[in-house]
Amino acid sequence: MIDGKKVLFSGMQATGNLTLGNYLGALKNWVTLSDEYECFYSVVDMHSITVRQDPATLRKRARNLLTLYIAAGLDPKKNCIYYQSHVSGHAELAWILNCFTYMGELNRMTQFKDKSAKHADNINAGLFTYPVLMAADILLYQADVVPVGVDQMQHLELTRNLAERFNNIYGDVFTVPEAYIGKVGAKIMSLQDPSKKMSKSDENPNGSIYLMDDPDTIMRKCKRAVTDSEACIRYTDQQPGLKNLIDIYSACTGNTPDQTVAEFDGKGYGEFKLAVGEAVVGVLKPLQDEFERLSKDKAYIDAVIKENAEKANYYATKTLRKVQRKAGFPDRIR
Ligand code: TRP
Repeated sequence: MIDGKKVLFSGMQATGNLTLGNYLGALKNWVTLSDEYECFYSVVDMHSITVRQDPATLRKRARNLLTLYIAAGLDPKKNCIYYQSHVSGHAELAWILNCFTYMGELNRMTQFKDKSAKHADNINAGLFTYPVLMAADILLYQADVVPVGVDQMQHLELTRNLAERFNNIYGDVFTVPEAYIGKVGAKIMSLQDPSKKMSKSDENPNGSIYLMDDPDTIMRKCKRAVTDSEACIRYTDQQPGLKNLIDIYSACTGNTPDQTVAEFDGKGYGEFKLAVGEAVVGVLKPLQDEFERLSKDKAYIDAVIKENAEKANYYATKTLRKVQRKAGFPDRIR
């Protein structure tokens, strides 16, 4: 609890270009959570180097992502928006937690298996202990809730186990976090293969709408989206491409899927796709404009970075000192 509010932690990696799926599925909802919770939203740049990165590109993308958080509507006075690498407590707590994590637990992580298959030439120890760093992120702020997608549930489960394991030995040190499962989540699928999640690492750029795509590109991708030959607007798993477009339209307009179906009852796919494209442009254009405006305001973004890193450090250090004491490290002489 901070000032009577429950604590929320989440983070995103600055690798790849964010997609409409990242926005509708995560970022947009983060904004609605910031009244109810004391929120920490990190740009998790330390996680990014588990895969080889070009330093200049990583630095640029990290700054863009932090700027995007603000452009999406997260007020940096109310939400702690910061770089993970600016708070050394993440690495320090991760080390301690490493000593409470079993090899077998990490060996079971499906993301580790997937990523080591994908990066067979660089299966480094950081990739292996990635989930422990993630646990440190969350536990460092005593987070009560963590909004995550299903792909991160296994990591969150490990986080809970580590918190409980530590608490069982040393008493109540960590808050055991819960997953925050939003209302009917906007899980956005690829426009070219609706059985796959829309992903920033998709090889086919037509499958994803990127947050920085211009209006023409967005319209073109929507027009080309894979549908079916039923020629009837219904919201069913039998028409997964269409269902995805209904989800996108609904998330962009604030409609329920049923309302969207009613609105386009009897209309053709061509007309609907056009409306989907316009709805997406309607959401992304203001976001892009705000991003451009903020990007030019270097002094403002720098101030946010500095102030929020200090705030994050304050809370992180509080937890870290407690944990270090429990672990048996000598007190600091002041
Ligand atoms: N691993 C998460 C992802 O790739 C990002 C992340 C790192 C995160 N630390 C976190 C998410 C802590 C939630 C909480 O999506």
